Amino acid sequence: MTTTTMSREFLKELGIQAQNSGVYAGGWVASPAGEELVSYSPADEDPIASLRMPGMADYDKAVESARETFLRWRMVPAPVRGEYVRRIGNELREHKAALGRLVSLEMGKILTEGEGEVQEAIDIADFATGLSRQLYGKVIQSERPHHRMGEQWHPLGPVGIITAFNFPAAVWAWNAMIAAVCGDTMIWKPSPHAPLTAIAIQNLVNKVMEDSEFPGVFNLVCGGTEIGQAMSKDKRLPLISFTGSSAVGRHVGRDVADRYGKSILELGGNNAVVVMDDANLDNALRAVVFGAVGTAGQRCTSTRRVFLHESIADDFTQRMLKVYPTINIGDPLDKATLMGPLVTQQAVMKYESAVERARSEGAEILCGGKARTGKGHFVEPTIVKARNDMAIVQEETFAPIVYLIPFRDLDEVLALHNDVPQGLSSAIFTESIQTAETFLSHRGSDCGIANVNIGTSGAEIGGAFGGEKETGGGREAGSDSWKAYMRRQTNTINWGKDMPLAQGVEFDV
Ligand code: UN1
Repeated sequence: MTTTTMSREFLKELGIQAQNSGVYAGGWVASPAGEELVSYSPADEDPIASLRMPGMADYDKAVESARETFLRWRMVPAPVRGEYVRRIGNELREHKAALGRLVSLEMGKILTEGEGEVQEAIDIADFATGLSRQLYGKVIQSERPHHRMGEQWHPLGPVGIITAFNFPAAVWAWNAMIAAVCGDTMIWKPSPHAPLTAIAIQNLVNKVMEDSEFPGVFNLVCGGTEIGQAMSKDKRLPLISFTGSSAVGRHVGRDVADRYGKSILELGGNNAVVVMDDANLDNALRAVVFGAVGTAGQRCTSTRRVFLHESIADDFTQRMLKVYPTINIGDPLDKATLMGPLVTQQAVMKYESAVERARSEGAEILCGGKARTGKGHFVEPTIVKARNDMAIVQEETFAPIVYLIPFRDLDEVLALHNDVPQGLSSAIFTESIQTAETFLSHRGSDCGIANVNIGTSGAEIGGAFGGEKETGGGREAGSDSWKAYMRRQTNTINWGKDMPLAQGVEFDV
């Protein structure tokens, strides 16, 4: 079934029209001044709907909405802010099927993953609701008599959220749900490859916020690079949270630092699974195939390198070669499909050029390697036998290409594993507690995420998400990631009659 013939009921449910506004500034801006953007389905290249992008004046309006609302939102008790977030979570719950379907239609991940992503947004809304009663500060022991020290957290201001196409709902939610309970307002720039998902989410948010006193907490600008740059340079936005490539993230980080802003960078990964000789190979196989082929290799957590102990390398490779041809490629909305299309034709070209480069660097293409002809941006999932030091293996290619690399022992594989510029996610399969703990130790994986006997992708929201080196160092979602969305204040209170100085300094006047 193609997009054109498919029932459009779910689009109606989400408030998506044939033509939409791409700007929400405390209210939908009726006709933004920017160009028209058409959103196409990557599966059949048919248009889904269009929207008007923001001009600079529209952008300003959205920032001003966030600024004005912040002055009042910051004074709302955090648990009351949490109540708004709880209700937004419920809207997501109620419309999970429709929103999951739109994610799948617009960016091409299979339906179960589209729904899974909405579930991730619901989960973080629940997490943030609880968090709204737990924005704890500390009491600190003072060295002076009759003094009390403490630390408290204040809202930061209107924050900028720039998200990528591959998780158009969940990554917004990681940032937005946490920022909202922290007392921040926000302006969201989604990827130009998934703007309708953003408009649908804004419509759901509006059901909760529009009739409240705070319609300007969540603002939306469906703009392109120019708007992203304006946000990075905008002093009115004390924090920019950016998810995307390391190449773009480098510029965002620089621009934000240049004006003394804070940034959360969640950039590229080059994630590996290590399969030891004592691993449960059935589980390792499932993890590797899901990690490499899931979302057509377009997660920042996708498995890109697989290190195989030499004693199981041939066996494991044969198992992969048996499974790959059985992977159903096709319409992401069809329940039987395991791998949908890449997001754009440009992504297909990057896939082709990566395969070509691997070949010319001496790697061996074991299966796949070709784009499919006909409608839609489909490619074959690809297995390549390679070396870790090949230039192409050192890069992140957002496509279903996995590099198999043999190794002899743990020391060798740890060195190879960490010898890439990125540091997001990692995993080891082993039945040995010594090997597992070594992988997790100070001399083990250098990534922000390190797993044992599960794959590199599909993290839960409860943990902090992000990584080191060219991955950017930022952390989003669970644990104490919320602290990045607030400002810390140290307080010292003297409740005595005298005023002694710290460090025993005498200064009598
Ligand atoms: C991303 O690809 O930017 O861990 C986010 C995962 C998902 C999130 C991925 N929970 O694969």
